[in-house]
Amino acid sequence: MTTEPLPDSLQIPFDPGSVWLAGAGPGDPGLLTLRALQGLRQADVIVHDALVGERILALASPAARLEFAGKRGGRPSAHQDDITNRLIELAREGHRVLRLKGGDPFVFGRGGEEAQALAEQGIPFRIIPGITAGLAGPAYAGIPATHRTANQAVILATGHSCAGGPDWKALAATGAPLILYMAWKGLPGIAAGLMEGGLPADTPVGVVTDATTERQRVLVTSLGTCVEDLATSGLEPPAIIVVGEVVRLRPVLDWLPQGASHG
Ligand SMILES: C[S@@+](CC[C@H](N)C(=O)[O-])C[C@H]1O[C@@H](n2cnc3c(N)ncnc32)[C@H](O)[C@@H]1O
Repeated sequence: MTTEPLPDSLQIPFDPGSVWLAGAGPGDPGLLTLRALQGLRQADVIVHDALVGERILALASPAARLEFAGKRGGRPSAHQDDITNRLIELAREGHRVLRLKGGDPFVFGRGGEEAQALAEQGIPFRIIPGITAGLAGPAYAGIPATHRTANQAVILATGHSCAGGPDWKALAATGAPLILYMAWKGLPGIAAGLMEGGLPADTPVGVVTDATTERQRVLVTSLGTCVEDLATSGLEPPAIIVVGEVVRLRPVLDWLPQGASHG
């Protein structure tokens, strides 16, 4: 793997003692931004989440130290305060710190909380947006987030209920397609809430697992049957779940055969 620097015209200074809070995109290394790639090449320490894959970490400078700060794969959970304290500590030691998160750091990624802590401690930081799984996953499954004849709005929502969770009936009433993160476990309650809110049982649902990676799989089902279909599908999270008429475009727009190489 080459770790040659990017052309000067594409680089900006990455100062010692600062933190770049970057999104690594949804999985396919080709969806990294050039700025995140610069961070991978120049960081002294890379503090990364579980959703950042090996193929992306392989782009890091061989001199960089990799620190895992994720919550998956049977490894012990890192507490959010411990992660932010570690970022502050590393920056104070004078390292160039890349905090690398799956997707976009500001979309259900707690990037705002980490940036807040850095700001409070006077640590210089930069936010590097990434391509969020909620847009890339459906795109890699031939499902557009918006389509002129189908919708004029789209809702990104979390199915995680730790902060009470969204009001599913109210979201259903908007008629906008829903792009759901972290909705696997809570799907029975979410589907019921959306139907109570007026969405018909035959509303199409698209489930994209391991989106944009070589393991990507897609299931198309309906609101009324999605819980049972998912349970018997053999699929596993992480998943993006799309609820709405835009899913009906997949048969025409599906451009990526299941299991195909992503480059
Ligand atoms: C804590 S959120 C992080 C979202 C991330 N910041 C982003 O912008 O994509 C984690 C959830 O994102 C979704 N997710 C992230 N990467 C994914 C992928 N490659 N395929 C499917 N879902 C993914 C899943 O719903 C997963 O439970």
